[in-house]
Amino acid sequence: HEEFTKVKNIATIELGKYEIETWYFSPFPPEYNDCLKLYFCEFCLNFMKRKEQLQRHMRKCDLKHPPGDEIYRSGTLSMFEVDGKKNKVYGQNLCYLAKLFLDHKTLYYDVDLFLFYVLCECDDRGCHMVGYFSKEKHSEESYNLACILTLPPYQRKGYGKFLIAFSYELSKKEGKVGTPERPLSDLGHLSYKGYWTRVLLDILKKHKGNISIKELSDMTAIKAEDILATLQTLELIQYRKGQHVICADPKVLDRHLIQAGRGGLEVDVSKLIWTPYK
Ligand code: COA
Ligand code: NA
Repeated sequence: HEEFTKVKNIATIELGKYEIETWYFSPFPPEYNDCLKLYFCEFCLNFMKRKEQLQRHMRKCDLKHPPGDEIYRSGTLSMFEVDGKKNKVYGQNLCYLAKLFLDHKTLYYDVDLFLFYVLCECDDRGCHMVGYFSKEKHSEESYNLACILTLPPYQRKGYGKFLIAFSYELSKKEGKVGTPERPLSDLGHLSYKGYWTRVLLDILKKHKGNISIKELSDMTAIKAEDILATLQTLELIQYRKGQHVICADPKVLDRHLIQAGRGGLEVDVSKLIWTPYK
């Protein structure tokens, strides 16, 4: 699907206490073409060519967390909802940053049309971004997530599954089913497959009697097609007498659950204070 490959320009970025090696090309404005390294303000995400500029900026910048509303707080984890229309520059900066770690996404969308859910680890110095996902304000394809990123220093710690779980909690509050925008990257696909497997098999394990894909979808906000595909890949769907039947042998479920990996960080729904975008 790649028509051409652009040469990676920015090789490293500085963000908060981390120096991070980038993965892919990102279309920063032309005046940054000669830079190998960029310095980001970890709070407003403005980026600069030189360390001294960043130091000067940090003395003036009074943000200590992403702009927007804190909609979730549990322990040191907070989630902020940023409206791309109200915080255009922040939204654009976030897209430039994210593209450094996303291969195939075209991020030239109007940020106005998106909400950004920015996950932070907070301490006495401020709220440090761990990752985020974006979501269209209105999606005709029932997408509940456009892009998802865990910054490399925070990867493989369960934040990705937390972000995915969070996107489905928002869908539940909206009373809708959701699905991530395609294509998914390999890492995105692995994370979703692990999430779907764990959520669905936990229900199947506890449930007594028959359950339909529709019921599973109502309970989880996972789109029926994603449920069917997940259960088919796990070979848990049998076709009997002209009907799809879910096989729920406890031993088989346990084996799959072990393979699905750790559960990740839990979203405590009681800590989510949010009403759907209108
Ligand atoms: N190698 C193998 N499996 C991996 C992996 C890796 N490097 N990274 C993630 N996975 C799989 C594992 O199954 C993992 O579960 P486990 O740790 O219990 O085995 C699961 O994905 C999710 O791990 P988690 O720690 O919750 O995710 P994460 O915080 O690392 O974030 C992404 C996952 C996809 C958000 C992250 O890899 C990322 O930001 N990638 C770059 C951007 C991207 O590709 N986004 C998706 C575009 S659609
Ligand atoms: Na996108």
